[in-house]
Amino acid sequence: MKKIKVLFVCLGNICRSPAGQGALQKLVNDSELDHIFEIDSCGTAGYHIGALPDPRTRKVAQRAGIQLTHHARKFNPSTDFEDFDYILAMDDSNFESILSLAWEPWQKEKVTMFRRFDDQQKDGLNVPDPYYGTIKDFELVQEIVTRTSKGFLNFLKSKGILT
Ligand code: 4NP
Repeated sequence: MKKIKVLFVCLGNICRSPAGQGALQKLVNDSELDHIFEIDSCGTAGYHIGALPDPRTRKVAQRAGIQLTHHARKFNPSTDFEDFDYILAMDDSNFESILSLAWEPWQKEKVTMFRRFDDQQKDGLNVPDPYYGTIKDFELVQEIVTRTSKGFLNFLKSKGILT
């Protein structure tokens, strides 16, 4: 079976996108669907290349039973458009940055706002950037990415992509 390849994208790849990657990975592991998925994350900026997620991101994920071991990397337009089926942007700035790197319609079609799949979304489509915030902001990110990852799996099921 062809794998479903998902790439989470934020700015620095140390807060929101690794949190999303970890939340979706946990859900697919718990449902024994991990052989079907390939899940990765990256940033539109290169400030933190090689770094582990922010300690606050890791702490909050750890409490949810998730060990984050990803090392930050930057989006690579020459391979990532090809390699992934779903490129999920955490906010509209990340969305615009990735779209501006796409040169073909098939590339643009892969890019979507992650929170389109949030069934309780009522405060816009952005996952708020917690970097300059407090632990509460990181807890909110964890809550959003967990709920939205469930919504993303439900979307795949509703389309018959995941059975
Ligand atoms: P992220 O958060 O995009 O969710 O990883 C940020 C991380 C780092 C910075 C900004 C946002 N920064 O300016 O270094």
